Amino acid sequence: MERYVIKGGNPLVGEVEIGGAKNAALAILAAATMTDETVYIDNMPDASDTNAMLKAIESIGAYVERTGRHSVKINASQIRSYSIENDYIKKIRAGYYLLGALLGKYKQAGVALPGGCHIGLRPIDQHIKGFTALGAKVTIQGIIKAEAEQLVGKHIYLDVVSVGATINIMMAAAMAEGKTIIENAAKEPHVVDVANFLNSMGANIKGAGTDVIRIRGVEKLHGTEYTIIPDQIEAGTFMLAAAATMGDVTVKNVIPKHLESISAKLVEMGCQIHESDDAVRVVATRRLQNTHIKTLPYPGYPTDMQPQITVALGLASGISIVTESIFESRFKYVDELTRMGANIKVEGSTAIIEGVERYTGATVSAPDLRAGAALVIAALTAEGYSTVEEIKYIERGYEDFDIKLRELGAQIEKVDDDRDVQKFKLKHA
Ligand code: UD1
Repeated sequence: MERYVIKGGNPLVGEVEIGGAKNAALAILAAATMTDETVYIDNMPDASDTNAMLKAIESIGAYVERTGRHSVKINASQIRSYSIENDYIKKIRAGYYLLGALLGKYKQAGVALPGGCHIGLRPIDQHIKGFTALGAKVTIQGIIKAEAEQLVGKHIYLDVVSVGATINIMMAAAMAEGKTIIENAAKEPHVVDVANFLNSMGANIKGAGTDVIRIRGVEKLHGTEYTIIPDQIEAGTFMLAAAATMGDVTVKNVIPKHLESISAKLVEMGCQIHESDDAVRVVATRRLQNTHIKTLPYPGYPTDMQPQITVALGLASGISIVTESIFESRFKYVDELTRMGANIKVEGSTAIIEGVERYTGATVSAPDLRAGAALVIAALTAEGYSTVEEIKYIERGYEDFDIKLRELGAQIEKVDDDRDVQKFKLKHA
């Protein structure tokens, strides 16, 4: 089983190039099936979730060609099945985007129930509410099926701010008859990116990035060439890694505006932040200070950046309080972190963190994607050696995580077995 072995203690220093947004890419790949014409997508991350989505659309008949490591050509004119329940789709939560896309174009869709990270109950009632409002009949029997004679635009008020539901409804409504209004829509950067992608295919979507999105349905979507936005969470993860290791890292190819909630917290924690047009530099020269955080929908502090900042606050002076308001089981990694010496008490959706001077190396297991990345950050700061297991979770959303960290001076290697762990220890003794 592949794992990372890490020797902590080196501050991260240098520049790192951030890839395309994984969560935007997943939806955009689904949306690419909504036209019979060819779609060219650039800045596609090479992570296991996006690769699974590519396999999933290929398995229902789309032509998929990787024209480079980060570019892909898709032609979905030969799609032969609107129902998908293979292992590719079961692996990723965002497989549900094929519901909105196929329902929008073909008025019928079936997708196996979503997988993904176990970070709490993840209902999809708001997606179903949206599809039903547009005129679809939705049934769930192992797989979720949606079908409609015709989709007709509606005024839809979401009960919770949901990224997935907003994007899914937007896709289905893009080819519905008439006008759809989504109120209480999610405003995350990738919602805007998917809207821009659909608009570049001829859709008529306005207001993405605000809480009211207006969609006028069109009969047909056409081919396009599109570049995915940079990944806010990958960038944020490297920013936190810089802060926690007392480093000096410039994250490049980013949209600094998308990182403001993270930058603001890092400033409160005593880091220096230097922004330019498409880069953010994080410099940490003294022990981090405590702060309090509550995760919120965008533009609030992202839940996908909660474990990483908790790890950094675990080393800060004073007591910090982190409140998770989006997913209820997102502190599972704290047990692992405690074994590295952290002093964190979790009470319901709140973590009370009393900063320690240092973590100590340990063997820990990644419970999910972002918590896995956070445990790597902890190991980078820790005294001695750590092994992070179950890195398959980390590889769902981070491309070349170990390589990028190594280029910043981290002592980290991906290894297969205990013998390789020993070799690493000898090499880095
Ligand atoms: C997306 C991201 C995920 C991120 C999350 C919040 C993808 C593939 N995943 O997940 O990385 O952590 O946004 O930024 O883009 N909810 C309902 N009913 C629904 C849908 C959601 O009650 O029908 C609740 C959820 O349980 C959660 C909250 O709404 O408490 C937000 O979930 P949502 O924004 O939908 O998250 P995802 O789209 O699953």
